[in-house]
Amino acid sequence: MEPWKDLSGKVVLVTGASSGIGLEFCLDLAKAGCTIIAAARRIDRLESLCNDINSEGIWRAFALELDVMSNGATIKGAVQRAWDAFGRINVLINNAGIRVSGLNRVLVPGGLTYASSKMALDMLTRMMALELGVYNIRVNSIAPGVFKSHITESLMQKEGFNNVILRTVPLRYLGMTDPALTSLVKYLIHTSSEYVSGNIFIVDSGGTLTGVPIFSSL
Ligand SMILES: NC(=O)c1ccc[n+]([C@@H]2O[C@H](COP(=O)([O-])OP(=O)(O)OC[C@H]3O[C@@H](n4cnc5c(N)ncnc54)[C@H](OP(=O)(O)O)[C@@H]3O)[C@@H](O)[C@H]2O)c1
Repeated sequence: MEPWKDLSGKVVLVTGASSGIGLEFCLDLAKAGCTIIAAARRIDRLESLCNDINSEGIWRAFALELDVMSNGATIKGAVQRAWDAFGRINVLINNAGIRVSGLNRVLVPGGLTYASSKMALDMLTRMMALELGVYNIRVNSIAPGVFKSHITESLMQKEGFNNVILRTVPLRYLGMTDPALTSLVKYLIHTSSEYVSGNIFIVDSGGTLTGVPIFSSL
């Protein structure tokens, strides 16, 4: 029924894997049979995550200390260590970074830098898909709405938050990373999506359609 539930043999590098969405991706992809390279700055957290995954007996998770803001040479060295861990990398989930949401549909005064960087990321996705297709590399972006994590904790605890969701979000609820985002990630990794490249997938319960900038207005 859903062939992308089995991703055995895929080696996936996830940045921002030490907490939140990235950590949930690692756990879910490990369950689907992937080999995981978990990258972030807090190596202790990564090692604990990898120990959990490896505790099932097969060595298939590797902790990679990486600051994505490092210079080119440092990044190159880290990618080499990641490659050497399992001899290949099939997928990069570039999760650590600016807050990437569907805000290209919601413009907020004062958000010039943020909105511009968001549009740049969308263009980066399309241009990379254009240039790398010849190597059979597909490039897609996921633009999440609000998902529970360290960065959204205080927002979600604000009085009235649930009311705003009930009144403004078309589907009337906010999903959890697993399965709302994890199912799409698995589909994009699987060959079922081999014809899909250069897309920006907005996963937000329809929230940004209404034009209410939830992040900024509460
Ligand atoms: N949660 C949401 O509702 C939401 C919505 C839209 C977009 N997003 C985006 O989704 C991504 C994950 O967010 P999250 O909610 O899961 O936040 P989070 O729980 O704070 O996780 C952020 C992750 O990124 C890592 N990180 C931060 N700076 C880094 C750096 N310079 N180098 C390497 N790793 C770095 C952190 O690990 P270390 O500190 O150990 O390095 C951590 O693992 C972010 O890009 C965020 O902007 C989230």
